[in-house]
Amino acid sequence: MTGRIPEHLIEQIREQTDIVELVGEYVQLKHSGDNHLGLCPFHQEKTPSFNVNGSRQIFHCFGCDAGGNVFSFLMRMEGLSFPEAVRRLAARVGIAIETDQPSPRQRQEQLLRQRRRDLLELAARHYRQQLADPAQGAAARDYLARRGFKPPVIERFGLGYAGPAWDGLVRALTAAGADLALARELGLIRPGREGRGDYDLFRARLLFPIGDLAGQPLAFGGRRLDNELPKYINSPESPLYRKSQTLYGLCQAKAAMRRERRVVVVEGYFDVLALSQAGIEAVVATCGTALTEEHARLLRRYVDRVLLLFDQDAAGQKAGLRALPQLLATGLQVQSLRLPAGDDPDSCVQREGAAAFEQRLAQAQSALDAEMERQLSAASSAEAQSRAIEGLLTLIRAVPGAIERALHLQALAQRSGLPLELLQQQLEAPAPAAVTPARTERPAGSTPSPPPPPPDEEPPWLAAAALPPEPPEDLPPLAALPAPAPVPVPDKIQLWLLRLLLQEKNLAGAVLQEGIDQLFAAPPARQLAAALIQAGQQGEDARSLLEQLGSGEELRPWCRQLLADGAPLHEDVEKSFADCRQAVRQGQLKQRRSALHAQMREAEARGDSAQQMACLQELTEINRQLKNRNGMSE
Ligand code: UTP
Ligand code: MN
Repeated sequence: MTGRIPEHLIEQIREQTDIVELVGEYVQLKHSGDNHLGLCPFHQEKTPSFNVNGSRQIFHCFGCDAGGNVFSFLMRMEGLSFPEAVRRLAARVGIAIETDQPSPRQRQEQLLRQRRRDLLELAARHYRQQLADPAQGAAARDYLARRGFKPPVIERFGLGYAGPAWDGLVRALTAAGADLALARELGLIRPGREGRGDYDLFRARLLFPIGDLAGQPLAFGGRRLDNELPKYINSPESPLYRKSQTLYGLCQAKAAMRRERRVVVVEGYFDVLALSQAGIEAVVATCGTALTEEHARLLRRYVDRVLLLFDQDAAGQKAGLRALPQLLATGLQVQSLRLPAGDDPDSCVQREGAAAFEQRLAQAQSALDAEMERQLSAASSAEAQSRAIEGLLTLIRAVPGAIERALHLQALAQRSGLPLELLQQQLEAPAPAAVTPARTERPAGSTPSPPPPPPDEEPPWLAAAALPPEPPEDLPPLAALPAPAPVPVPDKIQLWLLRLLLQEKNLAGAVLQEGIDQLFAAPPARQLAAALIQAGQQGEDARSLLEQLGSGEELRPWCRQLLADGAPLHEDVEKSFADCRQAVRQGQLKQRRSALHAQMREAEARGDSAQQMACLQELTEINRQLKNRNGMSE
């Protein structure tokens, strides 16, 4: 894998990597004039002095003087060499580096991936042509016109039309010499029964291409022009398309999102189109799923505020509710808005016009407030009331800022009529098991519990309690500290752990016992660990799973590393695992120790001797633990 990377490629990679986006994956950035500002990841600080300049594509910290471009950032952040950083970013922006000598297998994967993309592009073009066709597309164009959609928005979102023929796309693909097996794999066509030819999935439907961040199609949603059911059908998930990672309209919305630092999240394709046409360009929709944690993190790269504008029906309300903890935990401000009964965003904005609709948006309320109101007024018995309050407290715990948490708590006290102190106590009471570092409470050797169920059960936010809050900067008084959030541990250990898990699926029990959140600080690593464990339990092939997951931008570098044959593993997997676990624990203790040092200095400056004592106590305990661990191997 050596060889010089051509200068022009390096330049191209640098230009195409968005530094704000890249840094934003590690550091919470706030927009400030031309710059983005955050807490420096390279030194400890309380007030942000880390600047990222999007137009000049550089970063600089006024505190520790760290600075540079996308490459130097990644080198420092991930401990990479320059060529490694270049390669990582190349993969990210989709530039192939010729000097790379990928394994034949990797090479094949790359090719396959590109062919899948080309095929989707071909299909999208075919559908666009059909919509533009004077005869074929007339009905669909009329339909769009009747619903108030004008050519610019139709083009902006690349809408298309699939004619009524059984095999319109099959024929177009065949004529273009495309590989029908790939089209089958992507769910665009299906094999006919008993030797009959393939047929199209989308027929007589208006088509919405669902694109990636760069607007390249990954999948389609198709709506009938009449009232036949199903109203919509959608591409199945595929190696390129994961619903939990995709937001409809994100590519079109992202510039406005970054500018306005807010986004409107709606439910339907047409809602996105209607708002966008009305000039509210920062709008996206989930693709027929609930908002996931990954969606929330994706949004967090661009915005500070999310406005949930879900349909008024029960399903819409529930979807909004389910999204709340994920969004809150990411540090996003979440608002929600009720539309008149029977309306969805599309019908409302088309009827009222852009200006009136903007006024509605301006009246959006805090989603958490709205939820409090709804829950408390719905709960009649004392028991129901208490359950509602527990649930609301779980939501409030998800909020990372201490001040904001306090404000929400006050609101809850006011609304429920309960004393603030009581609620405060409850809030700080031992958080649900998943938040505290999962120590060995379970008897050793017991069967591990399965990975958490899909966030489907009531109440919807409890499942998300597992989300660690962002490391709190504005710490509450030490005595009242909730369980410390998992802190980042070096990439290498996490990779090593994943590799062990890949090699030996029986490690799942030990991993679950220690807690995935505890062992893996990086969200992609967490996700992969959960996926590997699940695959192991279901007897799926882990390597092909990794190949699939590796098509997502975030997971790609991890999957690559895992799939590339790494150093041979220690023969004793258990021992390797124990070593890794110890390294993680020690890393966390050390981080906590330096945070405590800083707090103690601050307390000293304030003359707060109680806090000083509290810090000292914890420090002593930490030092004891560190010493013990150094002395004995587990
Ligand atoms: P809606 O039924 O609210 O449709 O579904 P809509 O977007 O308002 O569409 P119009 O205005 O009736 O034409 C909201 C979203 O849920 C998904 C689609 O993504 C849709 O945009 N959906 C809905 C499906 O995937 N399948 C369905 O059968 C229905
Ligand atoms: Mn609608």
